[in-house]
Amino acid sequence: MSMPGHAPPVPAPPTLLEPDLLAADPAGLAEVGRLVTELTREAAAALRRRTGPLPAVTPQELSRLLDSLLPDGPMPRTGGGRQAVLALARSYAALTVDLADPRAAAHLQPPALSVAAAADVLASVFNASVDTWDSGPCAVEIERRVVRSLTDLAGYGPDADGVLTPGGTASNLQALLIARDAALGARRDVRAAGLTGLAAEPVVYCSELAHFSIARACAVLGLGEGAVRPIRTDAAYRMRVDELERALAGRRDTEVPIAIVATAGTTDWGSIDPLPELAAVAARHGVRLHVDAAYGGGALFSDRMRPLLAGIEAADTITIDLHKTAWQPAATSALLARDGRDFAPTTGLRVAYLNPDDDGEAGYDGLLGNSMATTRRADALKVAATFLALGREGVGAMLEACYDLARHAADTVAAHPGLELAAPPALTTVVFRYLPRARGADPDAVNGALRRLLLSRGTALIGRTDVAGSVRLKLTLLNPQATTHDIDELLAAVAAAGSAVEAAA
Ligand SMILES: Cc1ncc(COP(=O)(O)O)c(C=O)c1O
Repeated sequence: MSMPGHAPPVPAPPTLLEPDLLAADPAGLAEVGRLVTELTREAAAALRRRTGPLPAVTPQELSRLLDSLLPDGPMPRTGGGRQAVLALARSYAALTVDLADPRAAAHLQPPALSVAAAADVLASVFNASVDTWDSGPCAVEIERRVVRSLTDLAGYGPDADGVLTPGGTASNLQALLIARDAALGARRDVRAAGLTGLAAEPVVYCSELAHFSIARACAVLGLGEGAVRPIRTDAAYRMRVDELERALAGRRDTEVPIAIVATAGTTDWGSIDPLPELAAVAARHGVRLHVDAAYGGGALFSDRMRPLLAGIEAADTITIDLHKTAWQPAATSALLARDGRDFAPTTGLRVAYLNPDDDGEAGYDGLLGNSMATTRRADALKVAATFLALGREGVGAMLEACYDLARHAADTVAAHPGLELAAPPALTTVVFRYLPRARGADPDAVNGALRRLLLSRGTALIGRTDVAGSVRLKLTLLNPQATTHDIDELLAAVAAAGSAVEAAA
């Protein structure tokens, strides 16, 4: 009987009472274990039925296939429980990209390591954040140690520091933020930094093949994309030092150099700019040097390939993407700084509710001061798990295997009468094209069409780029378990698709 004036208690919805609702308690963890087992079992069954790295559906067909599972509109009012999640896992594994298929060779997107993926589940379960010590004490310490091992690999000394970021784009942005404020001498105040009513014109030098994230960073930082001074490359796609010297020497008085950005591993060619020479130029002109080693940074793990990055230790900052050549689940990049004090002027913030001074002085400090983010995942956990499980040599061996595959692919292309190699590979990409047999056929149209044909069949996933506006195909080889036989079959599939396109014309 309800008391007069008191509403009867409203029963809690059943899900709120489930003892295993929350991941990070013993009952919840057990449920996570059961669910992960079932989800991965469903996914494995779907994977076994696959015929290639991509589903053989058009984008429109894929969208229709998802309709019955996940409405393309308002969210479901009531839940469907674990059955609904299992059905989602089945469809996801059937329809997403399968990067472990040796015929997946399009992007700088490797198959993730099992050990890293499993550790990542634990990061989600505990949901720690590394911005403050008390939001993720062990996660904070693990990231510090992972960063330390990376700065050590880069050849930096004890003053170095770093931070994990969501990707090379973010790492490059933060590097240029640091460089901008170092050069213009002010922070968090656009006017003081000279960004409005500019007398000074900030400029960033990088090769014409630098990643577009450099220009984007300039735009985001208020410098404008026009701040980029693209420097021409040599025949091996590396920044020409003489051209850089000329650009620096010939700059107008109003131009203020913010940074020289070297690329260690250009996206298409894998070429590595001449780091020691660029470091010397940077030092001579008193300009900061940032090395975008988002792709090539993986060479740090390998004794055999480390010499390719000789001189990197002279850079002020380095971007390295662990979700490229350390086989981590995205998103995991690192920005490293030779002098850890570089972070303070731009991100070294003290906030009363997060990291007050006295807590910091007592050692209760998180990583807020190194990052542009506030809440930040324990991404270092999967990296630490990888380093512990495989060691430096284990990770290095993976890149070495892909490096060798790229050489095999290049030799095979060069020996194939219907294919044309664009250049010898520098890392693990191979740029080439199909040569149409029919006189008068447009090679660009045929190469574009043959890639789409492979995509639509789902049997091979290769990349595409251009050389002076003319279409080229690209293999980005990041599967260390692929064999030379797999590469031969992939190239044979490309040639066959080219013939099919020509026959259909
Ligand atoms: C040289 C280089 N830098 C930066 C990036 C951007 O990295 P992310 O995709 O992790 O933002 C890429 C991506 O391919 C790259 O190749």
